[in-house]
Amino acid sequence: MTTATTTTTEAATTATSETTTAETAASTATFTADPATHRVLTGDRPTGLLHLGHYFGTLRNRVRLQNQGVEMFVVIADYQVITDRDIADRLAEHTENLVLDYLAAGLDPDHATIFAHSAVPALNQLLLPFLSLVSVAELNRNPTVKDEIAHSRQSAVNGLMFTYPVHQAADILFCKANLVPVGQDQLPHLEVARTVARRFNERYPHVDGGAVFPAPQALLSDAPLLLGTDGGKMSKSRGNAIPLGATEDETARAIRGAMTDADRRIDYDPVNRPEVSGLLLLAALCQDRAPEEIAEEIGDRGAAALKRTVTDSVNEHLRPLRTRRAELATDRGHLRQVLRDGAERANAIADATLDEVRAVMGAI
Ligand code: TRP
Repeated sequence: MTTATTTTTEAATTATSETTTAETAASTATFTADPATHRVLTGDRPTGLLHLGHYFGTLRNRVRLQNQGVEMFVVIADYQVITDRDIADRLAEHTENLVLDYLAAGLDPDHATIFAHSAVPALNQLLLPFLSLVSVAELNRNPTVKDEIAHSRQSAVNGLMFTYPVHQAADILFCKANLVPVGQDQLPHLEVARTVARRFNERYPHVDGGAVFPAPQALLSDAPLLLGTDGGKMSKSRGNAIPLGATEDETARAIRGAMTDADRRIDYDPVNRPEVSGLLLLAALCQDRAPEEIAEEIGDRGAAALKRTVTDSVNEHLRPLRTRRAELATDRGHLRQVLRDGAERANAIADATLDEVRAVMGAI
């Protein structure tokens, strides 16, 4: 059967390229990007406020790369919101709040292009040729998509759920980004982007033999997994997160309500005491010290003392960011202007890439 043959070939191709990704994915803390040869693209779904997990996981690293002089694109993936829910709730508000969190954390619109992918038509048009480069079997196998389907709040799984990783390849490839800082869960998507780039280049070479797209490389975040106040993974949708924009009182309340255990002696033991260790890790990241050291200081003064330390550490660490955030929040017009400027730059680049794509396909 034709389908069976195709599937086998595709599986072999995927296996080979997966090995490549594992080899090339660098880790963020030690990575110094060469500004002359790297273009970074990262992004978020506008579904809620960014929290400490985002901050220590990716946001800080984006700012670091930007300050190294690397050209940076940040996509607000608004169409991706409707993969696992029927409507995008309060989309404009969430989008503006993302811009607010980015700017407060130190992204600078003069050096980083911040845009919503729905505002860049040519980017979205890349989806059509890209979809022709992947098999239905490959779309079905994506482990992150499978996991999202398992947690979906929809009664029926929609078509965008299966195809959004290819759309995400368009997010990355429209600007020919070659470095994508992501968390572990995004590696399958990056693999799709690499596959799409490679197959497009093979199928549609330039007349001079050159390639249209680079193979984007993952820059794997090495921030330890931050736990939320319920001991599960900190997540926008689980109500267990501490938003960057929370007030000091809200922060204190959230941490006071966090789960711990009955042992008064505080020590760092992520395997046996995940909740206590998660809180220690949070304080440690904020103070830039080892969690064991902080545990030592608290000794046998129990969970209440631990929580006071964590609250003070978080509030102190975030104070400058929150001050900036509050200032920026008074001017929504400025946030919109940042998005308009970003979209203008992104559109110019996407138009040029789409022209190139149409030309090599012989579509003029
Ligand atoms: N899927 C990413 C997330 O849920 C968001 C995203 C959209 C993204 N497009 C991207 C990340 C391109 C990196 C590159 O967090």
